[in-house]
Amino acid sequence: MFDPFDAARSRDAWTALRQLRDEGPVATVAGGLRYITRYAEARAVLRDTETFSNASGLKAPGVEIPLEDRLLGELDPPRHTAVRRVMVTAMTPKVVHAAEPFIASTAAALLDALARDQFDLVTSYTGVLPNRVTMYLLGFDPADSDQLARWAKELMESTFPALNRTERGVGFAAAFPDFAGYIDTRIAERNAQLAAGDDRDDVLARLIRLEVDDEPLPPQQLRALVRNLITGGLTTTSQLLGNLLFELLTTPELDAALRADRALLSTAIEESLRLAPPVLFMARGCVRDTEIGGCPVQAGERVAIGAASANRDERVFDRADEFDADRANADQHLTFGYGTHVCPGATLARAVARIGVGAFIDHFASGELQLERGFVFEQVPTYFEHGPRRLPVVRARP
Ligand code: HEM
Repeated sequence: MFDPFDAARSRDAWTALRQLRDEGPVATVAGGLRYITRYAEARAVLRDTETFSNASGLKAPGVEIPLEDRLLGELDPPRHTAVRRVMVTAMTPKVVHAAEPFIASTAAALLDALARDQFDLVTSYTGVLPNRVTMYLLGFDPADSDQLARWAKELMESTFPALNRTERGVGFAAAFPDFAGYIDTRIAERNAQLAAGDDRDDVLARLIRLEVDDEPLPPQQLRALVRNLITGGLTTTSQLLGNLLFELLTTPELDAALRADRALLSTAIEESLRLAPPVLFMARGCVRDTEIGGCPVQAGERVAIGAASANRDERVFDRADEFDADRANADQHLTFGYGTHVCPGATLARAVARIGVGAFIDHFASGELQLERGFVFEQVPTYFEHGPRRLPVVRARP
């Protein structure tokens, strides 16, 4: 039976999902989870925050998270509305735009450092660039980048996203004491700097300055938001870059098309997001009896909104399984969600992808890099993410 919590099989899910989609808009999958397969119904569920609650986020059925430990995506209105406003105000498109020169120079420096003839693009590029950008935006010391990336990766690949605990303890601070301590120290430090009249304007300073109902955010909520910026954007943006580079390395026609017309890159990014979504599904808890596309769903049931399936719904996307870098409605995918919880990091993710892939095309000639002989796509071990764990390449001899 299809199991959205089974990371090992998520890459081979497209055929199973097509079958479920053909059978109806709502499927009952492993663990009794109700999986929304079609686009219209997926959007309807994402819109209806009164019937479908975010309280347990992407946790496995039965796992509840204490309020103070919740990420933005784990809050419901009205608290969600107030806290989200802080996040969105701290990370406006203007803030992202101002970071673009940093993204471009960091991408170029990382590519310049690839002097060898053989390397892994994930460990040396796609997994590193989003991390450097996050550190920059938050105003953290670049020297801490690798440590923070290790914590984020460890968290995403642990039992924590599904169970809210590891063998070390329950909740973020107990399960990841060093990571939580690091964030708390940075917040205390920035608080002291701002109190001393420092006028810095990084995203952390903006989060601290912004208020909800005339009150600053409580320290634990602030820590959750900073964690949200780190874990919400780091691995997902790495998967997007990895999926795009995998597509470029395995589809010479796409490589040629993008080199001939760079304007196609924006649509290619949307097509990659649609066909290879870094986030495969979103989760909700149903809080009152309802129906979705004529299928009854009861209070207490857990619902997964399958972006991976809805993005290939033939009712919305013609030749839905094909990568079409000229598709008119490519950006209608549900990979960043939809409605109240739509991803506030989408502008940043798109900017990192556009600049990161553009720099890659500028740096390497067509065909200069090839995937290692016998390469097999190995999925990252986070059950709701989709992206290559490794992209080992060799430089072709001229
Ligand atoms: C390709 C990269 C990314 C993908 C595919 C992605 C995907 C998503 C999705 C699907 C949601 C909605 C979840 C739901 O409805 O339950 C979401 C929410 C969120 N994302 Fe992203 N994201 C990406 C990058 C980022 C980045 C770069 C950041 C931060 C800088 C970020 C921060 C967040 C936050 C804080 C939320 C919660 C929003 C809310 O609940 O109101 N994401 N993301």
